[in-house]
This record gives sequence, C-alpha cells and structure tokens, in this order.
Amino acid sequence: MSLVHDLAAKALRRIDPEEAHRLTIRGLKTGFGPRGGRDDPVLKTRLAGLDLPNCVGLAAGFDKDAEVPDAMLRAGFGFVECGTVTPEPQPGNPRPRLFRLTEDGAVINRYGFNSQGLLHFGQRLAWRQRRGVVGANIGANKDSSDRIDDYVVGLRALWQVCDYFTANISSPNTPGLRGLQSRAALDDLLGRLDEARRDLEAEAARPVFLKVAPDLSEPEVRDVVEACLAHRIDALVVGNTTLSRPDSLSSAHRGEAGGLSGRPLMALSTRVLGQAHDIAAGRLPLVGCGGVASGADAYAKVRAGACAIQLYTAMALQGPGVVGRIKRELAALLKADGFSHVGEACGADRR
Ligand SMILES: Cc1cc2nc3c(=O)[nH]c(=O)nc-3n(C[C@H](O)[C@H](O)[C@H](O)COP(=O)(O)O)c2cc1C
Repeated sequence: MSLVHDLAAKALRRIDPEEAHRLTIRGLKTGFGPRGGRDDPVLKTRLAGLDLPNCVGLAAGFDKDAEVPDAMLRAGFGFVECGTVTPEPQPGNPRPRLFRLTEDGAVINRYGFNSQGLLHFGQRLAWRQRRGVVGANIGANKDSSDRIDDYVVGLRALWQVCDYFTANISSPNTPGLRGLQSRAALDDLLGRLDEARRDLEAEAARPVFLKVAPDLSEPEVRDVVEACLAHRIDALVVGNTTLSRPDSLSSAHRGEAGGLSGRPLMALSTRVLGQAHDIAAGRLPLVGCGGVASGADAYAKVRAGACAIQLYTAMALQGPGVVGRIKRELAALLKADGFSHVGEACGADRR
C-alpha cells in the first residue's frame, strides 16, 4: 500500500508544488492515505507530559488548516502539528511561493502564513475524535495591530481542542516576526502567554512550546532558553526554515526568497539544537526539526539533545513511506547502541 502512495507522490512531484500539496490534502481528506503499522516500543517517548507512541512527528506547515491530522497519525507519525494558524483568515504571499530544489533535497517556501483562520481550524479539531497527539502551531496576522495578542487569542480559542501549542515566532515570511525572538520581546510574549495559561489551566493542562529559527547565534539561543525557563515554556522546537543559503546548493531555484528546508538545513539546525541542549542542561525538553530524511538524521538529532523530532520536507520530496523507513532505521540504530528507549539516547553526544 505504501508503494501506491509513494508512486502517487512521485507523480505529484511532476506538477506545480503548491498544486501537488493541495491535491495531496484533498486525497488524504477522502481517505486515500497510507497506514503506518505498529510502532517499535523503543521509539515510545514522553514529551512535556505527552505520551507519544513514537518520537517522529509531522512538522507545521503541511496541514496548515487542520484538515488531515488523523490521516497523518494513521500514516505513522507519533504526533502531528497543524498550522500555523492566524486569528483572522489571510491569503499569504502571491504565487509562486513554493519551490522544489530536488537536486539539493530541499524546498524554499515563502507562503507567508496563508491561513483559513482560527474559526475553521478550531471547528475541525473540535469535530475529531481525540485519538493521538495533535498540536496547534499559532502565529500572528500580517496586518495585526498587536501581534502578541494574536498568540493569546490563538491559545484561548483552541485550548479545548488540541493537545499542545507551539508559538511560532520564527517564520521568515512574515516581515518583523523574527523580531519576537529578542529577549525583551520574548519576555513580553511569553509573559502574556503565561498569564493567559493561568486562567485556562483551571480547565485543562496543555503544554506550550516555542519554535525558533536555526539562524540564531549562541548568545541568542541562551536568551531564548532563559526566557523559556522564566515563563514556563514546556519545550523548545529547533527549528524553523533558514534564511541562509549554503554554497552547496545547486538547484536553479536556490536564489528564490523565503525559508530553506530539507537536507541543507540538517547540519545547521542540529548545531543550534546541541547548543540549546547544553544551555538548557536538562531543564527544557527539545524537539529537533530541520533536514531529517533518514533514521541516521533522526538519531543525530536525538544524540544532539532532542526528545522527539519533526520533519516535513523529506515527506514532501520522497512521499509518506519515508516515515516508516525513518522509524525502522532509528529503532535499529538505537538497539545497536544498546538503548532500550529513545529517551536514554537523548543528548548522548553532548555528555
Ligand atoms: C512549505 C513549507 C511550509 C511551512 N510552513 C510552516 C508554518 O506554517 N509554520 C511553521 O512553524 N513552520 C512551517 N514550516 C517549517 C517546518 O515546520 C520545519 O520547521 C522546517 O521545514 C524544517 O524541517 P524539514 O527540513 O523537515 O522540512 C514550513 C516548511 C515548509 C517546507
């Protein structure tokens, strides 16, 4: 069955990438999706209080409007992050805004938070049966007069319908958004999220993550980690797409504006993850995201300090069969090194 899906993915790679994405979501909505099978117990983990059947998650951006979280859980992901959702609907940037860099195993996107808005997103999540871990990645409207308030609005609107939140302050495609990563802005944002949580937690507990750019310097990573610890952030996702363009890129689209993801991001984002691990020193769980395309990549993220990993681009380029392959390879690598749980390997390279 996975072969059929990988063949479908291969056919979709021949058409415009945004159209391929739209057709994929439509196919998944009608039930045409792969089945992941049983997870190896070595991959089971606990992330900020969430029990995950496996540590390989779907990163934000694939299911921006929460249309297919259950199909992606069935495909074998251990958790699924929907969004980024903005409070009000917005169209995002003009097309074309998504480019395949096939030779480089990479993608450049400048979607700019195209979103159907909180109302549709929340309704869809409210209708689903709560099986499996689904998070909401929240952001701000481009024309918002109070961007920080947009995150608070997202938290309040979705508190009852998802399992965790990720505040995305690292998209390179909304002008000025990454400015929220400075210490003063972070204290403001995370302080207000913490305040909102204190009311909401009377109803139910929900972990809140923060997602940062892989382009941060080490002092900036230190500021981010300290701000997370000061304001009860439950996990840090490292990280989003990069604005950098490694010299190694050879595809015709390498000069397009936007965020680069996929293979060329692996080394950069894993380096920043390792820095965050050393600074956090066990006080803040980390999610490793950026360039994972094999079990060895996932294992490198875990050994650099990730409790769980996320991916998107490898699935877009290789098809959904990549999830099962990564899980099998990661399980074999963990066992070969004598680990009985993925959590035991977390940070193994930094000890
Ligand atoms: C087409 C595309 C759209 C994305 N949209 C979002 C988004 O809306 N919110 C977000 O936090 N990250 C978004 N991302 C970033 C991914 O979640 C991920 O952090 C990044 O791509 C690195 O992982 P990867 O190399 O496995 O793709 C997007 C990535 C791609 C390729």
